Amino acid sequence: MQKFDEIAPIVSNTNLIGDYYLITFKAEKIAKTAQPGQFVHVKVPSLKNCVLRRPFSIYNTDAEAGTVSVIYKVVGQGTEQLCTVQAGTELDVMGPLGIGFSNPAEKFPIIVAGGYGCAATYMQAKISNKKGIVIIGGRTEGDLLLEKEFADQGYEVLVSTNDGSKGTKGFVTTVLKDVLDKSQAGNGPALSDIEIYSCGPNPMLKAVGEMGLEYGIDSELSIDEHMCCGVGACFTCVCKTKTDKNEDGWRYSRTCNEGPVYRASTVHWD
Ligand SMILES: Cc1cc2nc3c(=O)[nH]c(=O)nc-3n(C[C@H](O)[C@H](O)[C@H](O)COP(=O)(O)OP(=O)(O)OC[C@H]3O[C@@H](n4cnc5c(N)ncnc54)[C@H](O)[C@@H]3O)c2cc1C
Ligand code: FES
Repeated sequence: MQKFDEIAPIVSNTNLIGDYYLITFKAEKIAKTAQPGQFVHVKVPSLKNCVLRRPFSIYNTDAEAGTVSVIYKVVGQGTEQLCTVQAGTELDVMGPLGIGFSNPAEKFPIIVAGGYGCAATYMQAKISNKKGIVIIGGRTEGDLLLEKEFADQGYEVLVSTNDGSKGTKGFVTTVLKDVLDKSQAGNGPALSDIEIYSCGPNPMLKAVGEMGLEYGIDSELSIDEHMCCGVGACFTCVCKTKTDKNEDGWRYSRTCNEGPVYRASTVHWD
């Protein structure tokens, strides 16, 4: 798969909600070729002494304008610097990287997302012909992202919060179980017609993947591991995937170039 290293002038970089920011930069080649679920690897300009890039999922692209957008949460040194960078500054951006979600079949999409996972799944929602259900979860109402944007794409948006401040009190899997139970009872699309795409914290992905399999659905999960090179050279980013080629039954897979998206049935959770 082709990847590019582009010098990308920032078009805008603004606060979205809480600690989340939306950054848009001009990177024509990445904008033309990016697929849903792929990511970019960004050198933060003001971290001159730090050579490590930061990986961010591609939230949206505009091929005509040649722009790429990312939603990022400020969590540490790199993102603290990134949110201070002004429009016009040039970013060094590598991408599009990784293997994203598969081309959506004519199935009923259910997207399950937490935190920046909403951004990582948005393009998949956008390109799918059928518009299904998006389940967004967060600790509290302030953690919920892109409700309106998914609804504008024609999706039914259901939310869960741990503290009950909005939507169902509990986890995204509480809502997912309800949706799948309805289908099983004949009050929704047939289970065999459903495809689940998910991105969020790994415990959430494990729960979503296992629940899908209980209903006979092999979900696509975008797995987040810490990354260094981003191109398959350093093995920082590994997760365990199943194999029948050794006694352990698993091997290390580099999420940066064999993932980040995996079928639930192939992931070996510890
Ligand atoms: C494929 C992929 C896609 C991603 N997409 C997005 C995105 O769209 N939006 C977004 O906000 N973030 C995304 N991340 C996470 C993002 O890369 C990290 O939050 C960022 O690198 C932190 O950089 P920092 O210098 O601010 O924090 P650091 O100072 O490096 O770390 C601060 C804290 O964040 C934690 N952290 C660092 N990297 C990760 C990580 N990969 N996963 C979980 N915790 C981490 C550290 O353990 C530490 O506790 C993605 C990660 C991957 C691997
Ligand atoms: S980040 Fe280096 S191999 Fe994946």
